[in-house]
Amino acid sequence: MKVTVVGAGAVGASCAEYIAIKNFASEVVLLDIKEGYAEGKAMDLMQTASLNSFDTKIMGSTNDYSKTVHSDICVITSGIPRKPGMTREELIGINAGIVKTVSSSLIKHSPNTIIIVVSNPMDTMTYLVHKTTGLPKNRIIGMGGALDSARFKYRLAEALGAPISDVDGMVIGGHSDKGMVPLTRLATRNSVPVSEFISEKRLAQVLQDTKVGGATLTGLLGTSAWYAPGAAVSGLVQAIACNQLKIYPCSTLLSGEYGLNDLCIGVPVVLGKNGIEKIVEIALNETEEAHLKISAEGVSKTNSLLEI
Ligand code: LAC
Repeated sequence: MKVTVVGAGAVGASCAEYIAIKNFASEVVLLDIKEGYAEGKAMDLMQTASLNSFDTKIMGSTNDYSKTVHSDICVITSGIPRKPGMTREELIGINAGIVKTVSSSLIKHSPNTIIIVVSNPMDTMTYLVHKTTGLPKNRIIGMGGALDSARFKYRLAEALGAPISDVDGMVIGGHSDKGMVPLTRLATRNSVPVSEFISEKRLAQVLQDTKVGGATLTGLLGTSAWYAPGAAVSGLVQAIACNQLKIYPCSTLLSGEYGLNDLCIGVPVVLGKNGIEKIVEIALNETEEAHLKISAEGVSKTNSLLEI
């Protein structure tokens, strides 16, 4: 299993690190345009191999796509991250050009690859990768929902005073502060609806804190987060590489599912060796459906800014 990660910044490097630590891939190629940067990160990570007990080979390269040849999975993290006060949507101008070039270069060397998109605005960049590469829809996956759901579970556990392993919950919709739709109705603590334990008001606070999860970290760190994004990507990569058939909310091209068409947005999918094996259509209530529709309108509006 060969995985390429484009962008050796904080998200790309932490993604490579988590993939290596989980020890399921034979090779990770880390690529960056900054001279020597990916090579340096790869070498530093390889020097953790004996300490962290992994055999995955991590190799760095300065923008040489021939090194990525025959990758089974490619992750695109390239582009500029958010600064405090910025929305993900504001990154579209610069990042669209980068994602276009990166995705075309990747499929030239790995025409059968599965692409995971992390660059922001993520749902729109996932849509752009479709338009640029023309790959089948099961092979293009946007990472947002897995991260937002992890942040949701963190906030739920905090509100419940429960261990995170006891909590389950999912966030669908666009990967944006306004567009996320945390499904509080379906969130549980060990199969019991969380509404049995906390008030509606507290749950509304959890929902709000989840939606601004990324922005809160950008405010604290001065740039966007990397540990949870990296871990979320590694989860998706592992689900595909090990054909786990796990359900994650991911951004995928919809053709009528959830009443939506011609856009990529977060919905639950089954991930396996073919990438998206299945889009899972769950019954939403009227409020959830309305929120997803508003979220989709926001994503479509951002998509309309693309020059494609
Ligand atoms: C975040 C970025 C990865 O939410 O979108 O942290």
